[in-house]
Amino acid sequence: MINSTTTTSDYMSSLLPKPPPLLMMMMKLRSVQQHHFHHIKPKASHSSIHASATTHLLDSLSQTSPSSNPLSTVTATVTVKPDGLFSRTFLSGLLYRNALHLELVSADLDPDTGLEKETVKSYAYKVRHKDGVVKYEAKFRVPTGFGEIGAVLVENERGKEIYIENIVIRGLTYGPINVSCNSWVHSKHDNPEKRVFFTQKSYLPSDTPSGLRRLREKDMEDKRGNGGGERKSYDRIYDYDTYNDLGNPDQSQDLARPVLGGNNHPYPRRCRTGRSSTKTDPSSESRSSSVYVPRDEAFSDVKQATFSAKTLRSVLHALVPQIEMLILDPNLGFTYFTDIDQLFNQQVVLPKSQKIGFFRSLLANILKVLLEGVDILEFETPAMMNRDTFAWFRDEEFCRQTLAGLNPLSIQLVKEWPLKSKLDPEIYGPPESNITTELVERHIKGVMSVEEALEKRKMYMLDYHDLLLPYVNKVRELEGTTLYGSRTLFFLTPDDTLQPVAIELVIPPMGDKPQWKQVFTPSHDATACWLWKLAKAHVSAHDAGYHQLVIHWLRTHCCTEPYIIAANRQLSEMHPIYRLLHPHFRYTMEINALARESLINGGGIIETTFSSGKYSVEISSIAYDQSWRFDNEALPADLIQRGMAVEDPSAKHGLRLMIQDYPYASDGLILWDAIKQWVTDYVNHYYADASSVVSDNELQAWWTEVRTEGHADKKDEPWWPVLRTPTDVIHTLTTIIWVASGHHAAVNFGQYVYGGYFPNRPTIARTKLPIEDPSDGEEHKLFLEKPEVSLLKCFPTQIQATKVMAVLDVLSSHSPDEEYIGEKMEPSWEEDPVIKTAFERLNLKLKELDAIIDQRNGDLNLKNRTGAGVVAYELLKPFSTPGVTGKGVPNSISI
Ligand SMILES: [Fe+2]
Repeated sequence: MINSTTTTSDYMSSLLPKPPPLLMMMMKLRSVQQHHFHHIKPKASHSSIHASATTHLLDSLSQTSPSSNPLSTVTATVTVKPDGLFSRTFLSGLLYRNALHLELVSADLDPDTGLEKETVKSYAYKVRHKDGVVKYEAKFRVPTGFGEIGAVLVENERGKEIYIENIVIRGLTYGPINVSCNSWVHSKHDNPEKRVFFTQKSYLPSDTPSGLRRLREKDMEDKRGNGGGERKSYDRIYDYDTYNDLGNPDQSQDLARPVLGGNNHPYPRRCRTGRSSTKTDPSSESRSSSVYVPRDEAFSDVKQATFSAKTLRSVLHALVPQIEMLILDPNLGFTYFTDIDQLFNQQVVLPKSQKIGFFRSLLANILKVLLEGVDILEFETPAMMNRDTFAWFRDEEFCRQTLAGLNPLSIQLVKEWPLKSKLDPEIYGPPESNITTELVERHIKGVMSVEEALEKRKMYMLDYHDLLLPYVNKVRELEGTTLYGSRTLFFLTPDDTLQPVAIELVIPPMGDKPQWKQVFTPSHDATACWLWKLAKAHVSAHDAGYHQLVIHWLRTHCCTEPYIIAANRQLSEMHPIYRLLHPHFRYTMEINALARESLINGGGIIETTFSSGKYSVEISSIAYDQSWRFDNEALPADLIQRGMAVEDPSAKHGLRLMIQDYPYASDGLILWDAIKQWVTDYVNHYYADASSVVSDNELQAWWTEVRTEGHADKKDEPWWPVLRTPTDVIHTLTTIIWVASGHHAAVNFGQYVYGGYFPNRPTIARTKLPIEDPSDGEEHKLFLEKPEVSLLKCFPTQIQATKVMAVLDVLSSHSPDEEYIGEKMEPSWEEDPVIKTAFERLNLKLKELDAIIDQRNGDLNLKNRTGAGVVAYELLKPFSTPGVTGKGVPNSISI
């Protein structure tokens, strides 16, 4: 192996203390062989020497005088991911044999000068390419006294970026060093800055080895950027911006959307891309078909073809347009229920399209290829429909799903009676609900009085009244949709199941029309029964919208992005908290960028398929403003706040559930505790001295930035936790990890199971109740003659249903490279015996949780999670196989 030569300048040499005679000899040799000169900063003496001639001489010297040899040979093996055919060609092999230039950085400063030691440099040469793995190797001559290696600087001399998995350094007296990189390194032609990779050891800022302090700071500075310019695809700059790129006013005024983020529409911040403003609205950013995310947040090029974001992109960009071509009438609904069933039984031939070509293999789940170029759309039967075709129609299932379905986070205890709106009566009409005490007592057949039911915590509700009512009149001006404010009341039966009591639908005053409100109840006559079904369809659509926009998008995807941006700007990659959080941030920014591109954008999937239409995302901003609080994102606090649990130190998890058989809560609390224990072990290990939390300037800067920049519109809220003690840190980090793992998994991976058969959870209820407007005799007549047709007309159109099904199928799917919580040990954790043991304990606890869930699902007394034809509650089972499984808790929000 041939080594390159590096040298120091004569000027520098003159400043340095005179080296010993042997080194003088070597320096002379070097001066003959001067090549290039790589500096980080002015360095102290005793540089490394890497010339082939020098190497020979040194070898001979070392043979004659082993005891006085000041250099040792060290080998670094770099594992990179091949980037397609190019890296395999003979020509590229020749061109890029020495594509990587490496520098070993000492963890120590020079004790004589107090300056950084000169790095030891060498080129890495490609040595083999086997089974999809390419190795480069570099040999170094490391001087005695160089000290421990703390980092490696990498310069990529190729014309394009390279993905480095790791660098293993062997030949050191203190054993091999494994530097885990898993990162793209830009070409030096794009950006002359060298990349630094620190070794596996984690350090709080104050413990940083002296030789690495400047690099630690510099790396964070590089990632912060200067706040200007348009981001390039190879950048790794993390910065903030508002959601000002959802609309497209340049294309049409109809597609103009308000900026989310700021006083008018408070919202979390997203990653800044620096694109130019639109021509028509300087406050909006122009749209792009390729949205920037920092380079390491977008792994799609090297991951498997079934990588989730890639699959989702293919559905949005290739399949959805095909569906739109297939169904020419956008307003066409389903005529019979059997037509809906046909979606799962019948193969639909899609129009021929070049667009699908490349994506075909990604869509194997829903797309079958019949003949060359002929694609067949075929949906899998969702598990819920598979188990019980009629479940969606029944009230028991409607109630059960509020505790164990796709959205178990909206159900709340009724704490005040009578139900009353907090909205301004001047604008929205009388605030009192028409669900009266008499009505409730009649419905629960005198089992107890309302007063007693309140006292015994027996009444629960879904409350979509105050959030939706201000949008009702606006939405009603849109075509093909309608909206009500809604309240749904439930009563808790002695066997711990919920029973529906009433649904109230409300329309605020409009012009000279007064407020309209109507209560519907499960009944025993045909007309009331069908009206109840229609009212239930509306509430299901409200719940589906709230779930997707608030519980799922806002509270997990959107609110997590600022934690990621701030962590990369303020926590060094060698900070133990960065390393703890990093697996929980995997792919989130990329999937969020894709959501801005095609899901939540003006005219995108959400707006065209949900009841609230173009106001959908704006409504999530209202929810953020009115109800999002970081402290309530912790599972126990969320349960307490909704009245679903009370604090009880004698109870397991310190909480007593109001409904014992509340599967999301009872499984979730075990997962919460497991995460908390792991975070406790981790944080206590690194912050053994409690005062080190306050003095950790990176940690403090991270948290300050989360509050004041990432969630800037909430920066003055008094409920933000402060990080003063290890306990504060533990609670804050547990909350973040819970949201990214348990919370997200519970509301994400059941999307196809529960939403795939849309009558169970229609995303839109398109028509008014037939009794709403007595002047509309036709609708009422149709309702009386064929109520089933009225219900079908209320449900999504064919195009809406098909698009949503295709998207939900992908969103519910685990990719083959999914990383589940507690499954994979990070290299830095493995190196520390305390952390390793703690992680093994986490893994064991999660395996126990897996078994507990199986055992619970076998217990027929737990009627909210199991029973005849019931899809057992598995959404918080930690592990899963790839695909649509309705279980599995990934580390991060990656789909
Ligand atoms: Fe998701």
